[in-house]
Amino acid sequence: MSLIFETHAHYDDDAFDEDRDSLLLSMKDAGIGEIINVCASPESLKTTKALMEKYDFVYGAAGIHPSDARGLNDDFIEEVRALSRHKKCLAVGEIGLDYYWDKDNKDEQKKWFGRQIELAKEEKLPVIIHSRDAAADTLSCMKDFGAKDAGGVVHCFSYEKEMAREFMNLGFYLGIGGVVTFKNSRKLKETAAYMPLDRILLETDSPYLAPVPYRGKRNCSLYLPYVVKEIAALKGVSEEEVIETTRANALRLFVKSGIKE
Ligand code: NI
Repeated sequence: MSLIFETHAHYDDDAFDEDRDSLLLSMKDAGIGEIINVCASPESLKTTKALMEKYDFVYGAAGIHPSDARGLNDDFIEEVRALSRHKKCLAVGEIGLDYYWDKDNKDEQKKWFGRQIELAKEEKLPVIIHSRDAAADTLSCMKDFGAKDAGGVVHCFSYEKEMAREFMNLGFYLGIGGVVTFKNSRKLKETAAYMPLDRILLETDSPYLAPVPYRGKRNCSLYLPYVVKEIAALKGVSEEEVIETTRANALRLFVKSGIKE
């Protein structure tokens, strides 16, 4: 059996304060091979670094989330750059646009999204993109700032098939997590059935978006088999094939010395 490559989690979140160590130490026996802990706040640059240095199977992504775009400055970007050079940092992220939570600072969000795409290219790393209620602007920023040259993944993909095609045309992968198991996520199920398996990455966004039957509870990477099962059913392939192919995808995208098969 291949191990699952978890490409997006936030184990530095307060939700894990009670049992972070025991939970992380239980991953390997449960079939989870690697985990990318993705920065979700400015403080997360420090806590992600600490997790990467504590656990051999935890890697990191360095970036400033669009919800923290307000008042950003170049010093922050240099802090992102410093962490991006860590040997276990595999990507710049999560970066992007979020018009669900913030509609009044779109230009500011676009500016820092673009700046971090440029940083990723300078540091030769792929990007992990967060995009919510902002499909068209996300795509145009990606084009304007040449995200194709960085490569990467649109995480927690939530748009329709046509947008999936646009992102895949830029060479991007799409991250699929617990939402695909929700009964009311017909659009995402359709998109997942449509996307080639070699463009899909597995992710949880823990502690958020737990799959059925844990919907609404704290999420963690141990629940990824429910996502695997759903994708396998939608695509008519075996669960093992989903695990193996998405693992190969992750290794292809996040190539850096230190990740061993
Ligand atoms: Ni996230």
